[in-house]
Amino acid sequence: MTEDLHFAYGEGAARAEVLKGIDLRVEAGVMTCLVGPSGSGKTTLLNILGLLEPPQKGRVSFVGRDVRNLTERELEDLRLRELGFVFQAFFLLPTLTVIENTTYFLPSLGLSRGEARDRGMETLARVGLVDHAHKLPRELSGGQRQRVAIARALAKRPKVILADEPTANLDRDTSDTIVSAFQELREKDGVSFVFSTHDHHLLSYAQRVHMLHQGRLVSSEGRGAARAPGAED
Ligand SMILES: Nc1ncnc2c1ncn2[C@@H]1O[C@H](COP(=O)(O)OP(=O)(O)O)[C@@H](O)[C@H]1O
Ligand SMILES: [Mg+2]
Repeated sequence: MTEDLHFAYGEGAARAEVLKGIDLRVEAGVMTCLVGPSGSGKTTLLNILGLLEPPQKGRVSFVGRDVRNLTERELEDLRLRELGFVFQAFFLLPTLTVIENTTYFLPSLGLSRGEARDRGMETLARVGLVDHAHKLPRELSGGQRQRVAIARALAKRPKVILADEPTANLDRDTSDTIVSAFQELREKDGVSFVFSTHDHHLLSYAQRVHMLHQGRLVSSEGRGAARAPGAED
């Protein structure tokens, strides 16, 4: 949740205010979607919600705790246990196989090797990549790499998954597979999703759609906002 959140890049003359007072509530078990033109601040907002970037002004709370009151170690722990990230740049480890990338965080969460492997394979099945489990990222297409990044976030079974344009490089069938995996986690495990997207299909599954424009939320709507103007690009 954010209250009157502000964020700027740069200093002095180069200072550019990117978020200008964002009030956003992310409800449990809900898919929340951020739309808006390129440069409107979607990625910046996701990074702040993901506790990767501290707010400069205003308040950000996560599971009821004001993030300013948390130590670096507590933040690290929340990122590990409660949050899953799907970044636009994927950030796969190039020397690790698909299954190793997918299970990367699981030993830190206390899973044994066997448990991690089972969960990893089950998650790869959800994103349609079991047959590629032992390949390296460079042997995969862009869309397949993106699915590994999604699997790595899902495998942690976090409370909240933050995803920056998660279906941007995927064809329609693959995008459907990902959307179904998200839906299943939301319904069965009560996972919350916050994603940015320009994909109308993914957008149509969101229960909340927030539109960002020049650093402000210009509209926040419930279901049916899938045709929000300005959602292209
Ligand atoms: N690391 C950065 N340093 C300086 N400016 C940045 C940085 N990241 C993003 N910006 C600027 O902040 C604005 C918002 O960017 P971003 O959050 O990536 O928007 P979106 O994801 O909606 O395209 C853009 O004008 C962008 O150029
Ligand atoms: Mg972005």
